[in-house]
Amino acid sequence: MGVMARFLITSALPYINGIKHLGNLVGSMLPADVHARYRRMQGHEVLFICATDEHGTPAELAAAEAGQSVRAYCDDQHEIQKAACAGFHLSFDHFGRTSHPLNHARTQHFAEALERAGLIEERVTAQVYSVDDGRFLPDRYVEGTCPVCGYEDARGDQCDNCGSLLDPVQLKNPRSKISGSTNIEIRDTAHLFLRQPLMEARVRDWVDASTQWPHLARSIAFKWLDEGLQDRSITRDLSWGIKVTQDGAPRPGFDSKVFYVWFDAPIGYIGATEEWAAATGQDWQRWWRTDQGADDVTYVQFMGKDNVAFHTVSFPVTLFGSGEPWKAVDRLKAFNWLTWYGGKFSTSGKRGIFMDQALELLPGDYWRWYLLANAPESSDAAFTLEGFQSAVNADLANVFGNFVNRITRFAATKMEGRVPGGGAPGPLEQALAARLADGIAALTAHHDAMDFRKAAAETRALWVAGNEYLQEAAPWSAIKTDPERAAVVVRTGLNLVTLFARLAAPFIPDTAQRVLDAMAVPAEGRGWPGADDASLLDTLPPGHAFEPPPVLFAKIEDTQVTAWAEQFGGGG
Ligand code: 2FM
Ligand code: ZN
Repeated sequence: MGVMARFLITSALPYINGIKHLGNLVGSMLPADVHARYRRMQGHEVLFICATDEHGTPAELAAAEAGQSVRAYCDDQHEIQKAACAGFHLSFDHFGRTSHPLNHARTQHFAEALERAGLIEERVTAQVYSVDDGRFLPDRYVEGTCPVCGYEDARGDQCDNCGSLLDPVQLKNPRSKISGSTNIEIRDTAHLFLRQPLMEARVRDWVDASTQWPHLARSIAFKWLDEGLQDRSITRDLSWGIKVTQDGAPRPGFDSKVFYVWFDAPIGYIGATEEWAAATGQDWQRWWRTDQGADDVTYVQFMGKDNVAFHTVSFPVTLFGSGEPWKAVDRLKAFNWLTWYGGKFSTSGKRGIFMDQALELLPGDYWRWYLLANAPESSDAAFTLEGFQSAVNADLANVFGNFVNRITRFAATKMEGRVPGGGAPGPLEQALAARLADGIAALTAHHDAMDFRKAAAETRALWVAGNEYLQEAAPWSAIKTDPERAAVVVRTGLNLVTLFARLAAPFIPDTAQRVLDAMAVPAEGRGWPGADDASLLDTLPPGHAFEPPPVLFAKIEDTQVTAWAEQFGGGG
């Protein structure tokens, strides 16, 4: 085992408005969990943080649609998302909320620090005002015709038809999303602007030095920097959100305004860490303040590709601009999109499976395995029910499940449920040990590189090698003629069971734990194995008692696939 290190791991914060689909899950939370588990198994100190992203117009609009107050809606949805995350075995140290008072305070702190640093300017701007609703209409509260492509249902912040980012005042024929009223005026009102251009050189130097980022992330960051940073409005005319302060008191003229959701959301990583600290009595500053020990931390962020610019440019402007010693991201993993049979997941269109629905069909590990083995890493990837069925049946049930079942049941019957002693390893075991050393080295490298598809493929390849070994060594034949030889093979096979469970634990943690529990493996035997560990096939001592684990995975029948395709919209 190498030197112990500290890893701060965050997943992009899921929006509060509705349960997330499987594409959202594999686009940040799930791979972040795999990496957190892997680093913990290596013995490192890990802090894994996530939260719901609760502000902004989508939250308000969804609450209105649900007929709830925004607060009650967010309370409910937070619990629903938290339960679904638990169902997928996401091992957050804390799953917080950007609406938590600690995040309010932290966000106000940053805005005030930025203002002291001369990076905030208050400006009068023209905004869309609805006379009938008696209020301004920021972002998604106004819809109208796109000035770029003419699409009639463009939203104030973005046109879904051509992808243009918009300012609400640019829309033609604007109408209120609240009342539908077209009695719209453009009125002046004050807003705070973050003077990002003043931080451009600082951010560019930092991106230049961030050699650990993948190509995609660096190129997105440089694209934004090359286009030139703009002053960015960080407040909105809304009531739900974080109030704007000045010197700790309400800021004059800002009573009916709050910070923009993308200003406070990334600060939520810190806010949620403070929540964790408050709940556990731990110290949050040693994870976030480089003057408090956080310079020893490796900070790893997971996100979808649409989030990269916010994490590589906007949030760093906030962190660096404060003039305070905050920890910034070291390594960053961005994902492309998971599609539903090549198209978009959609609630209204009844296309795709959402996290809660998935868990009603099958346990979390089934989904985890398929999603990660087909993660949209270098390009978009399609979820198909047929692909899911075949990954579960072939990889989990046939290759891994059968291996465990076969050798443990054989040993339970023929060796009285104990690891047999006697005999000495032969050429087959030596070849197997060499294959394992290579495979574990490769798998470890893939996890280090956060290459999830490759890690899953290597995990599976090792399971296959185990099956091949068992087939060739054939303990069921050896036992009739050569009990010593049979003892070696069974002992090797049982050690492989525990080794495979450990290697698979980041992907299928619940199953791995059931196997390790049944095999009575002590806690200290559950870490990440070293490729150079000579005792991998001889860890369980002779005489060690175990139970065969229950059947690990049920195969998915064709009739189930047909029914699910009907329910969730299949390929046809
Ligand atoms: O794109 C999203 O889903 C955002 N809710 C992610 C926010 S990540 C962080 F910055 F808070
Ligand atoms: Zn458009």
